[in-house]
Amino acid sequence: MKRTTYCGLITEQYLHQEVTLAGWVNKRRDHGGLIFVDLRDRAGIMQIVFNPDFDKQAHATAHELRSEFVILVKGKVIRRDDKLINKNIATGEFELQVTSLTILNKSKALPFALDEDLADEDTRLKYRYLDLRRPEMQKKLQLRNDILFTTREFFHKDGFIDVETPILTKNTMEGAREFIVPSRVHEHNFYSLPQSPQMYKQLLMAAGFDKYMQIARCFRDEDLRADRQPEFTQLDLEMSFIEEDDIIGVIDNYIKTLLKKVSNIDVQIPFKRISYDYAFSNFGSDKPDLRFDLKIQDFSSLFINTELKFLKTVVANGGKVGGLHVSGKVYSRSELLAWVDAAVKFGAKGLLWIRFNEDCKHESPVSNFLPDNFFEQVKEICPTLQAGDTIFLIAGEYEDAWTLLGRLRLELAQDLKIIPEHELNFSWVVDFPMFEYNKDDKRWYSKHHPFTSPQAGWENLEQKDIKARAYDIVLNGVELGGGSIRIHDSVIQKKIFNMIGMTDEVAQNYFDFLLESQELGYPPLGGIAIGIDRFVMLLTGSKSIREVIAFPKNQRGYDPMMKAPSEVEEQKLELYRLKYLPKKNK
Ligand code: AMO
Repeated sequence: MKRTTYCGLITEQYLHQEVTLAGWVNKRRDHGGLIFVDLRDRAGIMQIVFNPDFDKQAHATAHELRSEFVILVKGKVIRRDDKLINKNIATGEFELQVTSLTILNKSKALPFALDEDLADEDTRLKYRYLDLRRPEMQKKLQLRNDILFTTREFFHKDGFIDVETPILTKNTMEGAREFIVPSRVHEHNFYSLPQSPQMYKQLLMAAGFDKYMQIARCFRDEDLRADRQPEFTQLDLEMSFIEEDDIIGVIDNYIKTLLKKVSNIDVQIPFKRISYDYAFSNFGSDKPDLRFDLKIQDFSSLFINTELKFLKTVVANGGKVGGLHVSGKVYSRSELLAWVDAAVKFGAKGLLWIRFNEDCKHESPVSNFLPDNFFEQVKEICPTLQAGDTIFLIAGEYEDAWTLLGRLRLELAQDLKIIPEHELNFSWVVDFPMFEYNKDDKRWYSKHHPFTSPQAGWENLEQKDIKARAYDIVLNGVELGGGSIRIHDSVIQKKIFNMIGMTDEVAQNYFDFLLESQELGYPPLGGIAIGIDRFVMLLTGSKSIREVIAFPKNQRGYDPMMKAPSEVEEQKLELYRLKYLPKKNK
């Protein structure tokens, strides 16, 4: 019952030899006297042939074979006729003359064909073990394996110590909502699942480990998107006695080494660094896609004295008019209207377009209110402006308008097909604001997390102007990872907690262990975490991280295969002293 090699590994060296193969029937073709089967295993496909002349019994049984039967075959490897060589598969020069066949397991017709491009993701997830049989899924998980292996190897060689940290823990206050787990022993008490091992890795530095790494599972109960799962994997690092450049340098080297090893791709390091202010003012995002230019520009000065009341009011009230200048495409009127609809769909109150015709005359819904020399005025801001170009404008408060323009920038670029799909564009975003104000909650939050150290001079600045010693690494417009130099002084730590509205009492309640550790010999420290799922997603050109996770949840956080989450019987809840309240959403 033992295979001697994998189907996909049959090469010249096996010619005229007897081998035993095991795998799944990918396809069966019955040519009367001869039966051909494409046998598939994780290494690839091998054509096997049943002929009554090789073995009567095997040939007779082969009539029963159907797609996805699991079989074991023995036979001799021979070379195919020149005319029958299949260049599409690695083993296409050979076939196996089967002398023995064992059917190990039969298969009913599958709910979907493995070579079908299935749109319904829930069906794929319900039968994930079938979906994972598809070669492209096998390749993605194989690459993930290579990445994890190379990652461990790299950090092990560099003296990092791999330490596992708890899954049953307490909220780490990293911003997202946490999952909670009731304790049976400690009635009315709950564990939290870690959003990241943030607290533990800091305490490992307090313990003197100096360089820590972990491939860590993290859990966040947040709204899901293509690049978010409730449960995901981070490469988590922390180091003592270091500064920003040390962490950034380690990651630059790691990524360079990794890409060379797993994909034979050369990247230039150091990766460029841009400030948060530069990223946001030019690209309307703290994770700009720098594979193409198309910068946001400030057109406010053109509208200080305009007859356009709504723009004038925005500017007079301290708002801004930002815009994108598109060259190289002459939009039709219906295309322009479609862009207005698109912008409204992703949250803009409106989108103003101004197109310049072949005489550089402006055409726009507000044309009557624009001065005759508008083209020249715009040209002062966009020196490359020419006939046929269009500018798209959004007005409002700076953060809001620029965020919308950032989204529009990406969508316009996709439509213009100016994004070099195969480029890997890494950059560091640094000098983040330390805090951000939430207008709805009317309070300040940490932009990263409250353990991030402020930049020097912070004591004399207004809260909005304090910058953090934080850094994010961005790949093709996706935040790949983020980290910071941490606070290592309990007095500063308490002050920062206060600045996000946490009283000393609350801080003590949540973080007594941290504050105490910072008074018991606590080294200066910093670290970073890289989202492994996102990295594999980008390296495999996948559209979502669900494509590179073996058993992901769907977009609603549900697992259609295991049917999780699921209700728990009342008696079980009783054990935890818990009771159901009526449902809010039917
Ligand atoms: P942060 O919250 O920025 O930092 O997370 C680091 C990286 O983890 C990935 N990530 C996710 N991936 C998939 N699904 C999610 N829901 C999800 N959330 C985050 C991203 C992100 O850049 N403890 C800090 C790190 C530190 O300061 O050292 C932290 O977790 O790629």
